[in-house]
Amino acid sequence: MKESASAGKPVLVVGGAGYIGSHMVSALVAAGREVVILDNLSTGHRALLNPAALFVEGACGDRALVERILIDHAIGGVMHFAASSLVGESVQDPLKYYRNNLAQTVELLSAMQSVGVPYFVLSSTAAVYGEPQSVPIAESHPSRPTNPYGSTKAALERLLAEVEVASGMRHMSLRYFNAAGAHPDGTIGERHEPESHLIPIMIQVALGQRPHAQVFGTDWPTEDGSCVRDYIHVCDLADAHMVALQALERGAASSTYNLGTGKGYSVLQVIDTVRRITAHPVPVVVSGRRAGDPAVLVANADRIRSDLGWIPQRSDLDTIVSSAWNWHRRSA
Ligand SMILES: NC(=O)c1ccc[n+]([C@@H]2O[C@H](COP(=O)([O-])OP(=O)(O)OC[C@H]3O[C@@H](n4cnc5c(N)ncnc54)[C@H](O)[C@@H]3O)[C@@H](O)[C@H]2O)c1
Repeated sequence: MKESASAGKPVLVVGGAGYIGSHMVSALVAAGREVVILDNLSTGHRALLNPAALFVEGACGDRALVERILIDHAIGGVMHFAASSLVGESVQDPLKYYRNNLAQTVELLSAMQSVGVPYFVLSSTAAVYGEPQSVPIAESHPSRPTNPYGSTKAALERLLAEVEVASGMRHMSLRYFNAAGAHPDGTIGERHEPESHLIPIMIQVALGQRPHAQVFGTDWPTEDGSCVRDYIHVCDLADAHMVALQALERGAASSTYNLGTGKGYSVLQVIDTVRRITAHPVPVVVSGRRAGDPAVLVANADRIRSDLGWIPQRSDLDTIVSSAWNWHRRSA
């Protein structure tokens, strides 16, 4: 495949002050790429900004601002991490999700189209599948999201395919399962407020910031009765984005990929691992099942492995939990 004129050009990371975006910036900087971050700090943090990247504070729905950034910095590709991503909140306030995730991205894509930026990498999610009909879940599984958060991401995926037909902009939609862990150097990590993810919640218990953690149901049809999820280390996610961007730069066709390991861990297994690594008892309270939680969510990630050669390197549970523990202890 022929290397395009945009290969190696500066990258715009939208949402680069957030959890996953900041790890992406770190990976791009380490690879010698020039990076511009656009973030409105709605859920991001200045402390997660990488000093080697240029930071612009603003919203990706500000089309004039985005056009200026794309032109001034000769941006070759955009990686889009910015979104509202609390499933429960999306049910309470769907309009917020369609506004922030969909309408703002429409403006971002309009700016890219008018300036002629050729590549786009989207943070998508396993939530586009909805209730799994079979596991592990392959990309060909029907997409029937069960909440507005998943619907906005599914709509974006469709939109990207339609924009490509109209303008030739190529894209990669990367459907993450459960992002977890932190950078091995301990300088950046997960910081959501409110926190809704299992591993940081358990670690907050270990740090004495919460009295106990809640387990939603131990009567699921799984080996130990608790829900099973596929955890993927945030640095493995960043590596996957890097190979996806490089593939686009080499001329690869647009594609949709699951990012997971194909191996599930149960909630109780995660809790045991957190107890062992933090040497803290981590008390839990078991309550009833939560509506809408599937029993098992595990990816079939064969497609990205065979197309792009991506293989997760740090996604065993011990590495994930130790890196998260290291980050939370340092930032507590
Ligand atoms: N964390 C997970 O397990 C997970 C799983 C699947 C998909 N995702 C997706 O990955 C992406 C990143 O997730 P995260 O966990 O890092 O979230 P995060 O909240 O830490 O990061 C999102 C960043 O985007 C910024 N932002 C939000 N709306 C913006 C806007 N309109 N303009 C500019 N900046 C804006 C926020 O300030 C924040 O810095 C999201 O798109 C999310 O839907 C996350």
